[in-house]
Amino acid sequence: MSWKSFPKIELHLHLEGAADPAFIRGLAKEKSIDLQKIFDENGNYKYDGFGEFLSTYEAATQALQSPNDFKRLTQSVLENLAEHNVVYAEAFISPDFCGGRDLGAWREYLAAMQEAHVAGVTLKGIVTCIRHFGPEKARETAKCAAETASDWIVGFGMGGAEDVGRATDFAYAFDIAREAGLRLTSHAGEWGGSQSVWETVNDLKVERIGHGVHSINDLNLVRYLAETGIVLEVNPGSNVALGVFHSFAEHPIAKLRDAGVKVTVSTDDPPFFHTTMTREFEELERAFGWGSDDFKRLNQTALEAAFCDATTKEIISKRLDT
Ligand code: HPA
Ligand code: ZN
Repeated sequence: MSWKSFPKIELHLHLEGAADPAFIRGLAKEKSIDLQKIFDENGNYKYDGFGEFLSTYEAATQALQSPNDFKRLTQSVLENLAEHNVVYAEAFISPDFCGGRDLGAWREYLAAMQEAHVAGVTLKGIVTCIRHFGPEKARETAKCAAETASDWIVGFGMGGAEDVGRATDFAYAFDIAREAGLRLTSHAGEWGGSQSVWETVNDLKVERIGHGVHSINDLNLVRYLAETGIVLEVNPGSNVALGVFHSFAEHPIAKLRDAGVKVTVSTDDPPFFHTTMTREFEELERAFGWGSDDFKRLNQTALEAAFCDATTKEIISKRLDT
């Protein structure tokens, strides 16, 4: 069946990574920037493997140059979310791409993003540092996050190349964010193994892990995640598109869930991976026979793990019931 109208929550969505290629092409044209090399003959984003994915991603962000560009981007992402009945989403946003981590500029970008609005979809932001830009830039990013913590900026996270540095190198940045009252998540166990997840939970003290799927290779870690209630933001379509797993059927999400780990489902960078929340649900139904009860359970886990305030959660909870 189609799960398009089923209400959904998405906790792991990179704002720039959610930009439709046509939107980025349009902006590039307006600004006379040549971004031809990042598109294939069908107009889709072009990359081969994770390293190239990150460089295509960063090249695409060159078209996003002003607060107004980010307002338009946010508006378009909200419209895409509404189309798939995503009633609540948390988006990763990076001061690196919004004025180069300058606090004054960052405030302007942030204000512009918050002007975007679509009825029935609530969006919150998680300020995200980029691992391969290094610990110093991560600290600057954390300071931007701390200064703008609010009921809209609800968390701090880290994406980027997982094989660069060790989690502990970023502990200071996470400390700054934690002290400002922000909730914490970090990518780990996507390309790295279980050791990367251990280091991330121990050194950064996060309550959610982006991906975390390689935890499945370490029974002690699976047990630890289940006992502590650390939530995995799983992105099966992303993992399949990037070759982390060959297919949905081989993806460990069902095994992790059945071992008691709290799992949620998101799209990561939907147009890059030719996915949507509806498609994720459809593939999970096909691979594991998941149905309405399973998707309700996913929503409940996501609602509990969301970084927003209790009043917002009540509103979201009502939307899930309709
Ligand atoms: N992993 C790491 N960094 C990222 C990703 C991802 O899937 N998407 C955008 N930045
Ligand atoms: Zn991600």
